[in-house]
Amino acid sequence: MERIILDCDPGHDDAVAIMLAANSPQLELLAVTTVAGNQTLENTRRNACNVLQWLGRDVPVYAGCDRPLVRAQQIAADIHGKTGLDGPVFPPRTKFPEAEHAVPFIIRTLMASDGDITMVTTGPMTNLAMALRLEPRIAEKIRRIVLMGGSYQNGNVTPAAEFNIYADAEAAHICFTAGRPITMVGLDVTRKVLCYSAVVDRMERIGTRASRLFVELMRFFCQTQKEVYGMEGGPLHDPLTIASLIDPTLLTTKPMNVRVELRSSDSYGRTNCDYYGYLGLPVTADVAVDVNVPRFWDIVEECLRRYEPEVTP
Ligand code: RIB
Ligand code: CA
Repeated sequence: MERIILDCDPGHDDAVAIMLAANSPQLELLAVTTVAGNQTLENTRRNACNVLQWLGRDVPVYAGCDRPLVRAQQIAADIHGKTGLDGPVFPPRTKFPEAEHAVPFIIRTLMASDGDITMVTTGPMTNLAMALRLEPRIAEKIRRIVLMGGSYQNGNVTPAAEFNIYADAEAAHICFTAGRPITMVGLDVTRKVLCYSAVVDRMERIGTRASRLFVELMRFFCQTQKEVYGMEGGPLHDPLTIASLIDPTLLTTKPMNVRVELRSSDSYGRTNCDYYGYLGLPVTADVAVDVNVPRFWDIVEECLRRYEPEVTP
Protein backbone atom coordinates (compact mmCIF):
# COMPACT_ATOMS: atom_id res chain seq x y z
CA MET A 1 0.00 0.00 0.00
CA GLU A 2 1.24 3.48 -0.81
CA ARG A 3 1.15 5.78 2.20
CA ILE A 4 -0.13 9.24 1.41
CA ILE A 5 -1.01 12.55 3.00
CA LEU A 6 -3.65 14.45 1.01
CA ASP A 7 -3.29 18.22 1.33
CA CYS A 8 -6.34 19.90 -0.12
CA ASP A 9 -8.78 22.82 -0.23
CA PRO A 10 -12.25 21.19 -0.50
CA GLY A 11 -13.64 22.14 -2.97
CA HIS A 12 -15.90 19.78 -4.92
CA ASP A 13 -13.16 18.03 -6.83
CA ASP A 14 -11.01 17.79 -3.70
CA ALA A 15 -13.95 16.01 -2.04
CA VAL A 16 -13.96 13.38 -4.79
CA ALA A 17 -10.20 13.00 -4.33
CA ILE A 18 -10.86 12.30 -0.63
CA MET A 19 -13.47 9.67 -1.61
CA LEU A 20 -10.94 7.85 -3.78
CA ALA A 21 -8.06 8.17 -1.29
CA ALA A 22 -10.07 7.10 1.76
CA ASN A 23 -11.25 3.74 0.41
CA SER A 24 -8.79 2.20 -2.04
CA PRO A 25 -6.84 -1.00 -1.25
CA GLN A 26 -3.77 0.43 -2.98
CA LEU A 27 -3.55 3.43 -0.65
CA GLU A 28 -3.15 4.18 3.07
CA LEU A 29 -4.52 7.68 3.67
CA LEU A 30 -2.64 8.81 6.77
CA ALA A 31 -4.44 12.15 7.04
CA VAL A 32 -6.19 14.93 5.20
CA THR A 33 -4.57 18.32 5.71
CA THR A 34 -6.42 21.43 4.64
CA VAL A 35 -5.37 24.83 3.35
CA ALA A 36 -7.07 28.05 2.30
CA GLY A 37 -7.66 28.04 -1.43
CA ASN A 38 -11.02 27.43 -3.03
CA GLN A 39 -12.46 28.86 0.14
CA THR A 40 -11.23 30.12 3.51
CA LEU A 41 -9.47 27.71 5.84
CA GLU A 42 -12.51 27.75 8.13
CA ASN A 43 -14.57 26.41 5.23
CA THR A 44 -12.06 23.95 3.81
CA ARG A 45 -11.34 22.31 7.16
CA ARG A 46 -15.06 22.00 7.90
CA ASN A 47 -15.69 20.61 4.42
CA ALA A 48 -12.99 17.94 4.80
CA CYS A 49 -14.56 16.83 8.10
CA ASN A 50 -18.06 16.78 6.59
CA VAL A 51 -16.93 14.64 3.65
CA LEU A 52 -15.13 12.07 5.82
CA GLN A 53 -18.05 11.98 8.26
CA TRP A 54 -20.51 11.39 5.38
CA LEU A 55 -18.28 8.62 4.06
CA GLY A 56 -17.90 7.06 7.50
CA ARG A 57 -14.11 7.07 7.26
CA ASP A 58 -12.03 7.60 10.39
CA VAL A 59 -9.19 9.66 8.87
CA PRO A 60 -7.77 12.59 10.85
CA VAL A 61 -8.09 16.12 9.48
CA TYR A 62 -5.51 18.81 10.24
CA ALA A 63 -6.08 22.46 9.44
CA GLY A 64 -3.09 24.30 8.00
CA CYS A 65 -2.30 27.73 6.64
CA ASP A 66 -5.09 30.26 6.29
CA ARG A 67 -3.35 32.43 3.69
CA PRO A 68 -0.64 32.31 1.02
CA LEU A 69 3.01 32.93 1.87
CA VAL A 70 3.25 36.32 0.19
CA ARG A 71 0.34 37.37 -2.04
CA ALA A 72 -3.20 38.21 -0.92
CA GLN A 73 -5.63 35.31 -0.54
CA GLN A 74 -7.91 34.53 -3.51
CA ILE A 75 -10.86 32.13 -3.25
CA ALA A 76 -12.96 30.47 -5.97
CA ALA A 77 -16.48 31.05 -4.66
CA ASP A 78 -17.76 31.31 -8.24
CA ILE A 79 -16.98 27.62 -8.70
CA HIS A 80 -17.41 26.08 -5.26
CA GLY A 81 -19.98 28.42 -3.65
CA LYS A 82 -19.97 30.35 -0.41
CA THR A 83 -19.24 27.28 1.74
CA GLY A 84 -16.71 25.83 -0.68
CA LEU A 85 -18.85 22.71 -0.93
CA ASP A 86 -22.29 24.02 -1.92
CA GLY A 87 -24.83 21.45 -3.03
CA PRO A 88 -24.94 18.58 -0.53
CA VAL A 89 -26.74 19.08 2.81
CA PHE A 90 -24.53 17.56 5.49
CA PRO A 91 -25.86 16.14 8.78
CA PRO A 92 -24.95 17.76 12.12
CA ARG A 93 -21.21 17.54 12.64
CA THR A 94 -19.59 14.88 14.80
CA LYS A 95 -16.12 15.11 13.17
CA PHE A 96 -13.73 18.01 13.84
CA PRO A 97 -10.12 18.82 12.95
CA GLU A 98 -7.27 17.69 15.20
CA ALA A 99 -5.87 20.33 17.53
CA GLU A 100 -2.41 20.20 15.92
CA HIS A 101 -1.65 22.52 12.97
CA ALA A 102 -1.14 20.71 9.66
CA VAL A 103 2.41 21.99 9.15
CA PRO A 104 3.94 20.49 12.33
CA PHE A 105 1.88 17.36 11.68
CA ILE A 106 3.41 17.01 8.21
CA ILE A 107 6.90 17.62 9.61
CA ARG A 108 6.71 15.10 12.47
CA THR A 109 5.01 12.46 10.31
CA LEU A 110 7.57 12.71 7.53
CA MET A 111 10.51 12.83 9.95
CA ALA A 112 9.25 9.70 11.74
CA SER A 113 8.81 7.84 8.44
CA ASP A 114 11.15 5.67 6.40
CA GLY A 115 10.79 8.04 3.46
CA ASP A 116 7.82 6.09 2.11
CA ILE A 117 5.15 8.82 2.23
CA THR A 118 3.81 10.47 -0.93
CA MET A 119 2.62 14.04 -0.50
CA VAL A 120 -0.44 14.69 -2.65
CA THR A 121 -1.47 18.33 -2.96
CA THR A 122 -4.68 19.41 -4.63
CA GLY A 123 -4.81 22.99 -3.45
CA PRO A 124 -2.32 25.82 -3.04
CA MET A 125 0.99 24.32 -1.84
CA THR A 126 1.30 26.60 1.18
CA ASN A 127 1.34 23.88 3.85
CA LEU A 128 4.05 21.78 2.20
CA ALA A 129 6.13 24.87 1.45
CA MET A 130 5.92 26.01 5.06
CA ALA A 131 6.92 22.54 6.25
CA LEU A 132 9.92 22.53 3.89
CA ARG A 133 11.07 25.92 5.17
CA LEU A 134 10.47 25.09 8.83
CA GLU A 135 12.26 21.71 8.62
CA PRO A 136 14.29 21.30 5.39
CA ARG A 137 15.28 17.77 6.38
CA ILE A 138 11.78 16.55 5.47
CA ALA A 139 12.70 16.88 1.79
CA GLU A 140 14.65 13.61 1.79
CA LYS A 141 11.74 11.95 3.58
CA ILE A 142 9.23 12.73 0.83
CA ARG A 143 8.85 9.75 -1.50
CA ARG A 144 7.23 11.89 -4.23
CA ILE A 145 5.11 15.01 -4.57
CA VAL A 146 2.03 14.47 -6.72
CA LEU A 147 0.24 17.75 -7.31
CA MET A 148 -2.82 18.90 -9.12
CA GLY A 149 -1.67 22.20 -10.52
CA GLY A 150 -0.18 24.14 -13.37
CA SER A 151 -0.33 23.47 -17.06
CA TYR A 152 2.08 23.54 -19.98
CA GLN A 153 -0.65 25.18 -22.01
CA ASN A 154 -3.33 27.62 -20.86
CA GLY A 155 -4.30 28.67 -17.37
CA ASN A 156 -7.73 28.90 -15.78
CA VAL A 157 -7.49 32.00 -13.60
CA THR A 158 -5.34 34.00 -16.02
CA PRO A 159 -4.34 33.06 -19.57
CA ALA A 160 -1.03 31.92 -18.09
CA ALA A 161 -1.75 30.42 -14.68
CA GLU A 162 -3.75 27.64 -13.06
CA PHE A 163 -5.51 28.35 -9.74
CA ASN A 164 -3.50 26.21 -7.29
CA ILE A 165 -0.21 27.65 -8.46
CA TYR A 166 -1.52 31.19 -8.95
CA ALA A 167 -3.02 31.22 -5.44
CA ASP A 168 0.47 30.76 -3.93
CA ALA A 169 3.18 30.73 -6.59
CA GLU A 170 5.94 31.26 -4.03
CA ALA A 171 4.83 28.10 -2.21
CA ALA A 172 4.77 26.19 -5.49
CA HIS A 173 8.28 27.43 -6.27
CA ILE A 174 9.55 26.13 -2.92
CA CYS A 175 8.00 22.70 -3.61
CA PHE A 176 9.22 22.52 -7.23
CA THR A 177 12.77 23.33 -6.10
CA ALA A 178 12.82 20.91 -3.13
CA GLY A 179 14.73 18.35 -5.15
CA ARG A 180 12.16 15.58 -4.79
CA PRO A 181 10.45 13.55 -7.53
CA ILE A 182 7.38 15.45 -8.70
CA THR A 183 4.41 14.42 -10.79
CA MET A 184 2.57 17.48 -12.09
CA VAL A 185 -1.06 16.71 -12.94
CA GLY A 186 -2.05 19.88 -14.72
CA LEU A 187 -4.99 21.27 -16.62
CA ASP A 188 -3.61 19.66 -19.78
CA VAL A 189 -4.98 16.31 -18.58
CA THR A 190 -7.59 17.31 -15.98
CA ARG A 191 -9.57 19.10 -18.65
CA LYS A 192 -9.93 15.72 -20.38
CA VAL A 193 -11.83 14.08 -17.48
CA LEU A 194 -15.10 15.99 -17.85
CA CYS A 195 -17.98 14.95 -15.63
CA TYR A 196 -20.83 14.98 -18.14
CA SER A 197 -24.41 14.31 -17.01
CA ALA A 198 -24.09 10.74 -18.32
CA VAL A 199 -21.24 10.21 -15.83
CA VAL A 200 -23.38 11.57 -12.99
CA ASP A 201 -26.20 9.23 -14.01
CA ARG A 202 -23.74 6.30 -14.14
CA MET A 203 -22.49 6.99 -10.64
CA GLU A 204 -26.00 7.60 -9.26
CA ARG A 205 -26.97 4.04 -10.20
CA ILE A 206 -24.31 2.70 -7.80
CA GLY A 207 -26.43 3.44 -4.72
CA THR A 208 -23.77 3.88 -2.04
CA ARG A 209 -23.31 6.77 0.40
CA ALA A 210 -20.28 7.85 -1.61
CA SER A 211 -22.11 7.80 -4.94
CA ARG A 212 -24.90 9.88 -3.41
CA LEU A 213 -22.37 12.48 -2.27
CA PHE A 214 -20.68 12.37 -5.69
CA VAL A 215 -24.00 13.14 -7.38
CA GLU A 216 -24.89 15.97 -4.98
CA LEU A 217 -21.45 17.51 -5.43
CA MET A 218 -21.32 17.18 -9.20
CA ARG A 219 -24.77 18.65 -9.80
CA PHE A 220 -23.51 21.91 -8.25
CA PHE A 221 -19.95 21.78 -9.59
CA CYS A 222 -20.99 21.06 -13.18
CA GLN A 223 -23.50 23.91 -13.12
CA THR A 224 -20.90 26.47 -12.03
CA GLN A 225 -18.34 25.15 -14.50
CA LYS A 226 -20.89 25.70 -17.26
CA GLU A 227 -21.72 29.20 -16.00
CA VAL A 228 -18.08 30.26 -15.65
CA TYR A 229 -16.32 28.38 -18.47
CA GLY A 230 -19.20 27.27 -20.68
CA MET A 231 -18.13 23.65 -20.18
CA GLU A 232 -20.80 20.94 -20.53
CA GLY A 233 -18.97 18.70 -18.06
CA GLY A 234 -17.02 19.80 -14.99
CA PRO A 235 -13.31 18.89 -15.14
CA LEU A 236 -12.56 16.58 -12.21
CA HIS A 237 -9.11 17.99 -11.57
CA ASP A 238 -8.09 16.69 -8.14
CA PRO A 239 -9.18 13.02 -8.18
CA LEU A 240 -6.85 12.45 -11.12
CA THR A 241 -3.89 12.68 -8.73
CA ILE A 242 -5.28 9.89 -6.55
CA ALA A 243 -6.43 7.81 -9.49
CA SER A 244 -2.88 7.96 -10.90
CA LEU A 245 -1.61 6.38 -7.65
CA ILE A 246 -4.31 3.69 -7.78
CA ASP A 247 -3.34 2.87 -11.38
CA PRO A 248 0.16 4.05 -12.34
CA THR A 249 -0.61 3.36 -16.01
CA LEU A 250 -3.41 5.95 -16.04
CA LEU A 251 -1.30 8.97 -16.98
CA THR A 252 1.27 9.48 -19.67
CA THR A 253 3.99 11.80 -18.38
CA LYS A 254 6.91 13.62 -19.96
CA PRO A 255 9.98 14.72 -17.98
CA MET A 256 10.44 18.48 -18.21
CA ASN A 257 12.17 21.37 -16.60
CA VAL A 258 9.37 23.28 -14.85
CA ARG A 259 9.82 26.69 -13.31
CA VAL A 260 7.18 28.75 -11.54
CA GLU A 261 6.90 32.37 -12.72
CA LEU A 262 7.08 34.74 -9.74
CA ARG A 263 7.96 38.12 -11.22
CA SER A 264 5.81 38.73 -14.27
CA SER A 265 2.59 40.67 -13.73
CA ASP A 266 0.86 39.01 -16.68
CA SER A 267 2.26 35.52 -16.15
CA TYR A 268 2.61 35.31 -12.36
CA GLY A 269 1.93 31.73 -11.27
CA ARG A 270 2.56 30.16 -14.67
CA THR A 271 4.32 26.80 -14.67
CA ASN A 272 6.84 27.36 -17.43
CA CYS A 273 7.27 23.80 -18.76
CA ASP A 274 10.13 23.26 -21.21
CA TYR A 275 8.19 20.69 -23.27
CA TYR A 276 10.88 20.40 -25.98
CA GLY A 277 13.88 20.79 -23.69
CA TYR A 278 14.91 24.02 -25.45
CA LEU A 279 16.84 25.32 -22.47
CA GLY A 280 18.81 22.17 -21.72
CA LEU A 281 18.07 22.62 -18.03
CA PRO A 282 17.69 19.75 -15.56
CA VAL A 283 14.35 17.91 -15.45
CA THR A 284 12.38 18.97 -12.38
CA ALA A 285 9.03 17.21 -12.88
CA ASP A 286 7.18 14.45 -14.67
CA VAL A 287 4.40 16.40 -16.36
CA ALA A 288 1.19 14.59 -17.29
CA VAL A 289 0.49 14.95 -21.01
CA ASP A 290 -2.29 12.40 -21.51
CA VAL A 291 -4.80 10.28 -19.57
CA ASN A 292 -6.77 7.10 -20.22
CA VAL A 293 -10.17 8.73 -19.71
CA PRO A 294 -12.39 5.58 -19.71
CA ARG A 295 -10.05 3.94 -17.21
CA PHE A 296 -10.33 7.00 -14.94
CA TRP A 297 -14.12 6.76 -14.77
CA ASP A 298 -13.84 3.02 -14.13
CA ILE A 299 -11.54 3.77 -11.18
CA VAL A 300 -14.03 6.32 -9.84
CA GLU A 301 -16.88 3.81 -10.13
CA GLU A 302 -14.85 1.04 -8.49
CA CYS A 303 -14.03 3.34 -5.55
CA LEU A 304 -17.59 4.56 -5.08
CA ARG A 305 -18.85 0.97 -5.10
CA ARG A 306 -16.61 0.06 -2.16
CA TYR A 307 -18.58 2.26 0.24
CA GLU A 308 -21.60 1.24 2.30
CA PRO A 309 -25.06 1.29 0.70
CA GLU A 310 -26.86 4.62 0.71
CA VAL A 311 -29.19 5.00 3.68
CA THR A 312 -32.50 6.26 2.31
CA PRO A 313 -34.15 8.78 4.71
O1 RIB B 1 -7.41 24.73 -11.03
C1 RIB B 1 -8.09 23.66 -10.43
C2 RIB B 1 -7.69 23.50 -9.01
O2 RIB B 1 -8.03 24.67 -8.27
C3 RIB B 1 -8.44 22.35 -8.30
O3 RIB B 1 -7.61 21.82 -7.31
C4 RIB B 1 -9.60 23.04 -7.68
O4 RIB B 1 -10.10 22.34 -6.52
C5 RIB B 1 -8.99 24.34 -7.27
O5 RIB B 1 -8.30 24.12 -6.03
CA1 CA C 1 -8.42 21.73 -5.02
